[in-house]
Amino acid sequence: MQKNKINLVFFASGGGSNVEAILKNIESGQIRANPAAIITNNSYAGVVEKVLTADIPYYHISSVTHPDEHERTRIILEVLERHNADLIILAGYMKKLPEEIIIQYENRILNIHPALLPKFGGKNMYGMNVHRAVLESNEKKSGATVHIVNSEYDKGKILAQKSVEVKNNDNPETLRKRVLKAEHTLYSEVISKVISGDINLKI
Ligand code: GRF
Repeated sequence: MQKNKINLVFFASGGGSNVEAILKNIESGQIRANPAAIITNNSYAGVVEKVLTADIPYYHISSVTHPDEHERTRIILEVLERHNADLIILAGYMKKLPEEIIIQYENRILNIHPALLPKFGGKNMYGMNVHRAVLESNEKKSGATVHIVNSEYDKGKILAQKSVEVKNNDNPETLRKRVLKAEHTLYSEVISKVISGDINLKI
């Protein structure tokens, strides 16, 4: 680990294609950061396989491994401290982060959402629900949003967005794939800009 690089800790629950894209861009030097650790609440998630091959410390922390909520939060905080987390990267993490973590890491937690916030955000707007809602609303475009995480679902400051076209013959799956492709470049761009100071999280 190089000392002059910031430490990223990822939280993911799903396939892990965003984590994979970011790791690739770290490897290529586009993102100057250490992938310090990954936390998942789902030991069967595709992301686990991806990080195991990348040799990054991985932690399964869930209501199964740690049924007590306070203990769970304490363990997550311990992992973040152990790896000197500078920035938390949520990438398809299906759990709400405990308030204590949001407060302790204020303005240092990023999330990516598969729509153009503030539209199509909020509590039940995740996964296919988002793309279905976009299609049902006859939107002409959708896209991805990277934002700071605060206590309210999808309400933190928007840092960047990337639009994609909604096609006439789209179904939720075709739209999901197009948006996901945009996510893979957008998230890395934002992380690079945060590291270079072109995006200031404190303002
Ligand atoms: C992405 O669509 C992201 O916007 C959302 O969850 C999905 C994660 O996909 N928060 P993956 O696990 O990175 O492939």
